[in-house]
Amino acid sequence: MEFRELISTRRSVRKYAGAAGHDALAAILQEAQRAPSWKNQQTSRCYVVETPETLEDFRAAVLPSFNRNSSAGAALVVTTYVKGNVGFSDDGTPVNEIGNGWGAYDLGLHDAYLVLAAKNAGYDTLIMGIRDADAIRERLSIPENEEIMSVIAVGKAAEEPGPRPRKAPEEVTRFF
Ligand SMILES: Cc1cc2nc3c(=O)[nH]c(=O)nc-3n(C[C@H](O)[C@H](O)[C@H](O)COP(=O)(O)O)c2cc1C
Repeated sequence: MEFRELISTRRSVRKYAGAAGHDALAAILQEAQRAPSWKNQQTSRCYVVETPETLEDFRAAVLPSFNRNSSAGAALVVTTYVKGNVGFSDDGTPVNEIGNGWGAYDLGLHDAYLVLAAKNAGYDTLIMGIRDADAIRERLSIPENEEIMSVIAVGKAAEEPGPRPRKAPEEVTRFF
């Protein structure tokens, strides 16, 4: 898909007709890895819940009902980043006031690539920040040194939402 079309037609989709399959998910996640990161540290991590037996149980355990309904039928990718690495010098002190925020920044870039790679492969996505991190950690055995951020639904859309409004450019951008 042409890049301009890709970024202008991507939507958060809240109704799915089916999950992205294993090979498609693997290819999308490999493309997401092309995202830039602090000193190329690549601290973003993905945990893919894809088998039908585990998916529904996992969805029920970690998502509130509205996100559970919105993502029904889609595969789920949990994204995390390794803390205390990006944004820190070798002696463990933060390089600047942002600290671990740089790890979240890198993961956001990674996840932006992920949703665009999915769209390019014919799948739609929903990033969900409202989720139960403790339940996710326990079920997927995610180590404590990783910050759990989002759960991303990836699947075939069963709806075609129109574009959501964006603020006027002059409200969010200043040129000097
Ligand atoms: C960090 C983040 C967390 C989000 N969490 C949720 C969520 O928990 N549930 C939901 O339905 N949408 C969630 N969204 C989707 C946003 O509501 C959506 O991106 C926004 O309304 C713009 O719509 P669009 O993605 O279709 O352009 C989240 C998006 C981001 C980037």
